[in-house]
Amino acid sequence: MPSRRSLLLTGGALALAASGAYMLTRGPDHDAATNALWSPRDPGSLDGLVHYATLAANSHNAQAWRFRQTVDGVAILPDMTRALPVADADHHHLYASLGCAAENLMLAAGAAERSSALDFVPEGEGRVEIALGHGGGQDPLFEAILARQCTRSDYDGRAVPAADLAALEEAGRVDGAEVMLITDPALIMRVLELILTANAAQVSDPAFAAELKSWLRFNARAAVESSDGLFSAASGNPSLPTPLGRFMFDRFFTVEAENDRYARQVRSSAGLAIIHSDRDDPAHWVQAGRSYQRFALQATALGIRHAHLNQPVEVAATRPQLQSLLGLGDRRPDMVLRFGYAPPMARSLRRPVAAVIDA
Ligand SMILES: Cc1cc2nc3c(=O)[nH]c(=O)nc-3n(C[C@H](O)[C@H](O)[C@H](O)COP(=O)(O)O)c2cc1C
Repeated sequence: MPSRRSLLLTGGALALAASGAYMLTRGPDHDAATNALWSPRDPGSLDGLVHYATLAANSHNAQAWRFRQTVDGVAILPDMTRALPVADADHHHLYASLGCAAENLMLAAGAAERSSALDFVPEGEGRVEIALGHGGGQDPLFEAILARQCTRSDYDGRAVPAADLAALEEAGRVDGAEVMLITDPALIMRVLELILTANAAQVSDPAFAAELKSWLRFNARAAVESSDGLFSAASGNPSLPTPLGRFMFDRFFTVEAENDRYARQVRSSAGLAIIHSDRDDPAHWVQAGRSYQRFALQATALGIRHAHLNQPVEVAATRPQLQSLLGLGDRRPDMVLRFGYAPPMARSLRRPVAAVIDA
């Protein structure tokens, strides 16, 4: 009788072979799609501004945004049909993602020599309004937009030089939100404990797993077809036909496996970064998104990688513990990130600009 382990190994080998065949015979050219996407456009046009905005980081790559030309600029509105009711029940990440897009849009406006001013309008579902004027200048962070990515691999353990840490802190400082960097190994381990506790709660929640699975794109074809969601290769996982990918996810998405991976990834990182804001409301969630996007772009410019570990701010029970551990008082911890050095990974995709601009 074959052992359970050998059956699993055989299953894994078969899956890999199937994935290779699948990629060879039916996989579209994901590289061509990403190369075309992550390329320059004219930031002087509405399409160009929206192009750069949509290249921003965003929760689950759900792209829960719409763009509308206004009398004096561009409005960014939430697309609640793409919200994440389980992982992001209060829409914190959704508004933070609008903030990420707003930051990219403002940087692109600067590259087209236009000034920009952001206002959060709370009416209805709330929206971000960006007024554009004349005379802005190019911020060096603009250049990093096309190279930025979330890199979910193990890093190489190297420390980040003090001058670069200072640049990361400086870049992440915006009105109402900022970034705290943690490089003390003892404190990193205490934050890791909260990450693992919160991660265990999420992984054990069938509704969380089902929502995550619905945004996973298990192969290049699925990623290109939807142009949204989380492409398996961007998390270092093999490409599989969708039904096999779903089957493997159900089997292997376990607390033990996920916690082992996160613990290893944190231990391989140079440090953690916490985005925190003055208040806990949608206007500040947008500012937290801007702070994070600027941190991510500055990291990219310095050759530093980063990835999210937001579990302790997403799980209601661990957020106050993180707040108190970090001495944040009544400031809201918005995002938890790790940073360090690693080669790039597969890029993510976006829906076309025409699909997100309101007529
Ligand atoms: C508010 C917010 C929350 C996010 N949370 C997570 C997370 O918990 N885990 C993760 O791996 N990535 C997270 N991300 C990163 C997105 O998944 C990523 O930006 C998206 O898949 C697009 O990929 P890219 O940033 O590499 O272009 C988050 C991004 C934002 C803006």
